[in-house]
Amino acid sequence: MLTAAQLDRFRADGFLLLPGFVAAAACDELRARAEELMAAFEPGARRTVFTTSEQARKTDDYFLDSGEDIRFFFEEADPTIINKLGHALHDLDPVFARFSRTPAIASVVEALGIADPRVLQSMYILKAPRVGGEVRCHQDATYLHTDPPEAMIGLWFALEDARTDNACLWAIPGGHRDGLRAKFVRDGRATRLDVLDPRPWDDARLVPLEARQGDLILLDGLVPHLSYTNRSPRSRHAYTLHVISGAAPYPATNWLQRTTPPRGF
Ligand code: FE2
Repeated sequence: MLTAAQLDRFRADGFLLLPGFVAAAACDELRARAEELMAAFEPGARRTVFTTSEQARKTDDYFLDSGEDIRFFFEEADPTIINKLGHALHDLDPVFARFSRTPAIASVVEALGIADPRVLQSMYILKAPRVGGEVRCHQDATYLHTDPPEAMIGLWFALEDARTDNACLWAIPGGHRDGLRAKFVRDGRATRLDVLDPRPWDDARLVPLEARQGDLILLDGLVPHLSYTNRSPRSRHAYTLHVISGAAPYPATNWLQRTTPPRGF
């Protein structure tokens, strides 16, 4: 599924774009299904805001227990607008399950050397027009730590075109070789962010990862990446999966704890 040149590229950069990995019809089906889920959702009084900058402070039970559920998180700038759905779409919704567990995805994950792969987490990210909030520079391994960090891989599916104007991903090529900077740690029902390396990110090294609908971006768990606020009139829907190796330890200090083990493909 991946050529030797692609693997070399991924190892060097910490990310890799696979153009046209998913058919447009499959992207559209996922978008339609997300719309259905959101239309059926009654937020009531509870609106949990997702922000990276203040995640520790605002984390609450709704977030902590979302690892085996489909939950709805709102924009910090506008709590009437949904930021994302998470984190077990791939297990609980048949349309998302079908999209998430294809032989093609399994092949890619295998090619990346993830032994006994398990789909741990899924997110549907909306990045709404003019409102979709910034996600500051981070490493996914901060939020899902495995031992070693290489036992986790992120998959980012562009469900719509993602360009610089509508807040595509940006990443630091080679930044994954510079170690883990912070760890989001769960301690019972509390969480905290342990800073391991306080150096600021070198923003000058960021490059845009523009994608077309159906493209897949593979992300090393340690590669620093971000997305800016979407100031455009276009949304930027994306779907992400995080896959871990069932052969590697998954510490109890991860925020995402399951009562049943995550399943493979
Ligand atoms: Fe991320």
